[in-house]
Amino acid sequence: MTGRKIDTGLVEGGRRKEWRGRLVNVPVERASTILFDDVNDLHASGPGLGKYRYGLQGTATHWALSEALTELEPGAAGTVLYPSGLAAVSAPLLTLLSPGDELLVPDNIYGPTRRFCETILKRMTIRARYYDPLVGSGIAGMITDSTRAILLESPGSLTMEVQDVPAIAAVARERRIVTILDNTWATPLLFRAIGAGVDISVLAATKYVGGHADVMLGAATASGEYFQKIETATWDLGFATSPDDAWLGSRGLRTMAVRLRQHEMSALRVAEWLKERPEVGLVLHPALPDCPGHEIWKRDFEGSSGLFTFELKGADTAVRAKFVDSLRLFGIGYSWGGYESLVLPVDPVRTVSKPPASNLVRLHIGLEDADDLIADLDQAFDQAGR
Ligand SMILES: Cc1ncc(COP(=O)(O)O)c(C=O)c1O
Repeated sequence: MTGRKIDTGLVEGGRRKEWRGRLVNVPVERASTILFDDVNDLHASGPGLGKYRYGLQGTATHWALSEALTELEPGAAGTVLYPSGLAAVSAPLLTLLSPGDELLVPDNIYGPTRRFCETILKRMTIRARYYDPLVGSGIAGMITDSTRAILLESPGSLTMEVQDVPAIAAVARERRIVTILDNTWATPLLFRAIGAGVDISVLAATKYVGGHADVMLGAATASGEYFQKIETATWDLGFATSPDDAWLGSRGLRTMAVRLRQHEMSALRVAEWLKERPEVGLVLHPALPDCPGHEIWKRDFEGSSGLFTFELKGADTAVRAKFVDSLRLFGIGYSWGGYESLVLPVDPVRTVSKPPASNLVRLHIGLEDADDLIADLDQAFDQAGR
């Protein structure tokens, strides 16, 4: 059904009667072998949404999640699932690039994506050239005859710069260059990537889709020109996503809108409180004016989520470590997007642009009471002697 509001799509999406029977949820269908009635049936088999063939091509559990995610990006042709968010970036790049090609990459790209470019792509003589995340339509000046793809991530990792995605996508379209956006922070609830002109929108579903810090999962939602290519290549590469993990993705998706609204509200309260603290310099939250690209966020996004970064003014790394170690409600660990709050000292790696600040601390604001989180940060500032 098209035209229904996004919260309804999150509840209804992918829950076809033929897949769920009388249950509310499409169950976990675990399968390698699919049995056919006869040879005709065998030869007529899938692949494709709703067509059983072999475990690699998925079961109803996968199709339900793919269909629900596709509905969130009007104009998309389909969604391919991956065993992690990183795989949802790396597999489309492996599929669409050839030796000698060039790829443009924002300088604040998620670290392991940069590493993939500098190791596996480099070995294949695919060259990553890094650009200032704030380049906007100036990206046109970086394109050469070898440029085949532009990677985007908005807001970008650690320093949160918001990119002018529609401007970059428009330049790329004109030059017939594929665009791949890591849309994990916003999800399609806060930024509709395909509608903004992006060809492939990637989610680390490990974060807000899963929402409970208990699953590794990725998804790439693509326009008609690219969906079939990346789907077929996923089978060629032999990447199978566990049906249990796909099921956890669907389970998380049903409540994603309400969780995101709470993450947004609490993160804004904490960010605004931090802004008033004497120990804090820049607060790099896309909804606050300190964040580079804030005006673009206001123009393009429906809201904000729970992840942001702030600068500990004048502190050294030892003071930063003491501050982080003193927090009680914030777990120290990688990833984000779960129901729980997290903290990480972060040091961006840049090659062509300067980070807006140094001595940074990244917070993911979870679903705890914001007053408790603020009290915890307050006592950690005291402990760190700041
Ligand atoms: C922006 C972004 N993209 C992609 C990923 C990778 O996702 P995964 O951990 O599922 O591989 C992460 C993980 O932290 C991330 O922060």
